[in-house]
Amino acid sequence: MSPTLPRYSRITGTGSHLPPRRVTNDDLARQLAARGVETSDQWIVERTGIRARHFADEGVVCSDLALPAARAALAAAGRQTDDVDLIIVATSTPDMVFPSTATLLQAKLGIANGSPAFDVQAVCSGFIYALTVADALIRTGSAQCALVIGSEVFSRILDFDDRTTCVLFGDGAGAVVLEASNEPGLLGTELHADGRHAGILCTPGTVAGGKVIGDPTLKMDGQAVFKLAVGVLEDVARSVLAKAGKTEADIDFLIPHQANIRIMQGTARKLKLPADKLIVTVDEHGNTSAASIPLALDAAVRDGRIRRGHTLMLEGVGGGFTWGAALLEL
Ligand code: UT7
Repeated sequence: MSPTLPRYSRITGTGSHLPPRRVTNDDLARQLAARGVETSDQWIVERTGIRARHFADEGVVCSDLALPAARAALAAAGRQTDDVDLIIVATSTPDMVFPSTATLLQAKLGIANGSPAFDVQAVCSGFIYALTVADALIRTGSAQCALVIGSEVFSRILDFDDRTTCVLFGDGAGAVVLEASNEPGLLGTELHADGRHAGILCTPGTVAGGKVIGDPTLKMDGQAVFKLAVGVLEDVARSVLAKAGKTEADIDFLIPHQANIRIMQGTARKLKLPADKLIVTVDEHGNTSAASIPLALDAAVRDGRIRRGHTLMLEGVGGGFTWGAALLEL
């Protein structure tokens, strides 16, 4: 007889970590001015809502940020490292070309139980992709207790001579423990990609013949990304709600990818959600790509706004072009 499969996967703990170096817009504007690049706190706040971001010090790698985030999530879930039987790290700024950051993190956590660990690369949608994969592995009985992490050191791939991108991003990590459960749980997820738009947000360089080939810094057509993001975030949220048999009125909190306050507020308005149902950390974190959603989730769990029983809509959008959403009950 086959064992009974769990009906749901459920988030049982959250954690996050920001590198200590906080860089305000004024700090950054001063540093850029020294290179002849002009920007201002006023421009950055008006166009994006960002006031500060955190940058990792030299030598700090993606798994270094993921480690304290993972430990905090395990502590919140009341789990030990030995309980973990799956690690998925969403990142576009891994420690190495290979092995994956997830395996390096597994070793740093001291996990030696042979359970799978791998990275997911879907840029700013990465956490939604990772959560969806972990949910599927749990509900099909392949895992019981997963660590799902978004971790990024985007400062490493920024061109500090390009003011249209370097003021937008930051470093950090967010983690959740996702466990098999017969209580809800993830209620629905949806993933999308359209590779025809790869060029509007990319870091086109690669490594070959012992050299970096091409440009290894981030390039973005901000307006093209903005337009696509606004449309897909509304559509995918509605689609996931419909599949789960829910409506906008069921959403207690919306946690969209934290890239631009104007996109986030526009999405909330379209979903008829009041401002206090929108979780915002872009002001303090900047855009931390795959880390932004779990960082925002953990911030709102720790300040007491998000509690057990709340229904959350998580939404990612970014390079690829990729997008997706996850509706869940905490
Ligand atoms: O993480 C994946 C998802 N990413 C996103 O969602 C990003 C989506 N895009 C955006 O958030 C916005 O397009 C940006 C914040 C990137 C840019 O805002 P915008 O309102 O689209 O500005 P813009 O690109 O139209 O630039 C307006 C002006 C330009 O000057 P001119 O041509 O009007 O003279 C830029 O050169 O602002 C100038 N500018 C700046 N000025 C001061 C661009 N960057 C800066 C800067 N400081 N940092």
